[in-house]
Amino acid sequence: MYLSLADRASVTAAANPLAYLDLPIETPRLILRLPSSADLSDLNRMFRHRLTARALGAPLHSTSEMREPALMVARTLREFRSGAHLSLSVLLQENHRCVGRVGLRGLDWTYHKVESLSFWIDPKFWNRGLATEASWFLCHAGFVQLGLRRISSQALDRNEASQTVLRKLGFRKEGRERQAICLRGRCMDMILFGLLPGELRPVGWTTGDR
Ligand SMILES: CC(C)(COP(=O)(O)OP(=O)(O)OC[C@H]1O[C@@H](n2cnc3c(N)ncnc32)[C@H](O)[C@@H]1OP(=O)(O)O)[C@@H](O)C(=O)NCCC(=O)NCCS
Repeated sequence: MYLSLADRASVTAAANPLAYLDLPIETPRLILRLPSSADLSDLNRMFRHRLTARALGAPLHSTSEMREPALMVARTLREFRSGAHLSLSVLLQENHRCVGRVGLRGLDWTYHKVESLSFWIDPKFWNRGLATEASWFLCHAGFVQLGLRRISSQALDRNEASQTVLRKLGFRKEGRERQAICLRGRCMDMILFGLLPGELRPVGWTTGDR
C-alpha cells in the first residue's frame, strides 16, 4: 500500500516530513534507529577498517567527520531535524551492537525523490544479507510512509557487492557516469541505479502490509 498523490502533498506540507517515519524500524534481525553516542566506538572501528576505506575510496575517510564520528552523529541529527537527509544506525536485534549505517541522502520533498540510498556494514558482518535487509526495510518505509516515488543510488564500477545489493532490492541500472571519481591518479566510473515503488523486490521478509 503506497501513498496517493494527495497523501504525498500532506507529507510535503509537514514542517519536517521525516516526522512521518515510524522509528525505530525493526526488521527480522535488525533495528534501524537514529545514531547515538552509544554507537561511536563501533562506528569508529567501521570507518577506519581498511576494507571499508578500499570499497568507498580514501577521500571520504580523510574528512574530519570520518576521523571523528561524534561530529557525524551530531550532523546526522541536525540533518534529520531539517528533513534534508536520513541516516540510521543498523543494530543487531540480538545484542544491540551497531554493525552499520543505512540512509536516504538528498531528500527532495517537491518531487518526492531521493538522491542516494547509502549503506555500510562492518566488514566482520559482510555477506550475511544485512545490507540488503536494512535497505529493503528503509526503502519500503520511504515508499509507504514518506510517499517517495523514486530512490536513486550509485556504486563505483569496482564495488560489486554494492551493485549486487542494489540489484537484489530491485534497483535497475540506469546509466554510467564515466570517470566520475579519481583516487590516487586512477579514475573510475560510477554506475547509476534507480528504484520506483512497484519495483522493490520481495526478498523473503514480510512487513505485514504487503
Ligand atoms: C556493500 C556492503 C554494504 C554490502 O554489505 P553486506 O551486508 O555484505 O551485503 P549483503 O550480504 O546484503 O549482500 C552482498 C551481496 O554481494 C555479493 N558480493 C560480495 N562481494 C562480491 C563481489 N566481489 N562480487 C560480486 N558480488 C559480491 C554477496 O555474495 C551478496 O550477494 P548474495 O546474497 O546474492 O550472495 C558492504 O560490502 C560494505 O559496507 N562495503 C563498504 C561500503 C560500501 O561500499 N557501501 C556502498 C556504497 S554507499
